[in-house]
Amino acid sequence: MSVHAPPAPSDELDADAWAVEVHGLVKRFGSNTAVNGVELRVPRGCAFGYLGPNGAGKTTLMRVLLGLTHADAGTMSLLGHPVPRERARALARVGAIVDEPRFHKHLTGRENLAMLASSRERAASDRIGPALDRVGLGRRADDRVAGYSMGMRQRLGVAACLLGDPELLVLDEPMNGLDPAGMSDMRDMILSFVDEGRTVVLSSHLLDEVQRTCDSVAIVDRGTVIRQGPIAELLAGTSVVLEIECSEPERARGLVRPIVGGAAVDLVPHGIAATLPAGTGRDLIAEINRVLVEEGIHLYRLQPLQASLESWFLEVTSRLGEAQ
Ligand SMILES: Nc1ncnc2c1ncn2[C@@H]1O[C@H](COP(=O)(O)OP(=O)(O)OP(=O)(O)O)[C@@H](O)[C@H]1O
Ligand SMILES: [Mg+2]
Repeated sequence: MSVHAPPAPSDELDADAWAVEVHGLVKRFGSNTAVNGVELRVPRGCAFGYLGPNGAGKTTLMRVLLGLTHADAGTMSLLGHPVPRERARALARVGAIVDEPRFHKHLTGRENLAMLASSRERAASDRIGPALDRVGLGRRADDRVAGYSMGMRQRLGVAACLLGDPELLVLDEPMNGLDPAGMSDMRDMILSFVDEGRTVVLSSHLLDEVQRTCDSVAIVDRGTVIRQGPIAELLAGTSVVLEIECSEPERARGLVRPIVGGAAVDLVPHGIAATLPAGTGRDLIAEINRVLVEEGIHLYRLQPLQASLESWFLEVTSRLGEAQ
């Protein structure tokens, strides 16, 4: 990974523009098209997840955005500045961690940040202490990086991003290598950056993490964005699983099937589960409840569950597979 700390010019950024805007972006490696016509619009002030399986082209997109490698086609802008044309101006207010953080191992965490800050505006040096505290490294800041765990290096990478007081953070797989407590801390940090009005774009193949951390998401498969938008909106079009914990599951299933038409009703431990299409009204659930009670079935729990992003993601990608 590279940690970027280019000098900060004082140019005004276009506050109305998208944090990240990408049109028709293509990046090929020989015959392999890693990024295939990506269209992306990331609103400001949100946590945005770039979500996809291994090899989907997440890291490559971020490298192209940051000017670490050139695109074969397409246009991009960061914070309203077209890149690569105005790369320096754009990156002045961008903090990025792509791949694994690389630091001078024989220096301490604080010394590494001091080196990075020296190439920035003067205020960057004043941000070193607060940044180290913010990422929870305050007490280890004067230890050599050689003795840091992977999670601590990841935190130091985030501290390095904060030196430039970034409006946009681009984080490639920020949860990688972190234990559950570290992941939880990273999530809290990301949410606190968003609370401060910053935009965070993170890539991940951890669907659950994206769902817990991000407001909006783009789902990428084989270099192409196949869906994007606010998570709540994307899930609104997904099916609802109605879990029914009850006595006599076999008989209950026979009673529920005619009510739900063609919807699947499965036997599950301690009851049944009906997969209802998107937009199913609450009246249908009330009707199921009424019929089961009238027929003498004991109901212990009746719970409609919105499909998780994970099941939706699998649904979308498998449908994509079928289409080919
Ligand atoms: N420098 C490179 N040279 C050749 N091919 C590359 C290079 N970098 C990436 N690729 C190829 O581009 C495709 C996308 O890779 P990329 O690393 O962007 O995926 P990713 O979504 O970040 O995957 P992961 O979840 O494993 O990090 C893969 O097929 C990969 O082999
Ligand atoms: Mg990657």
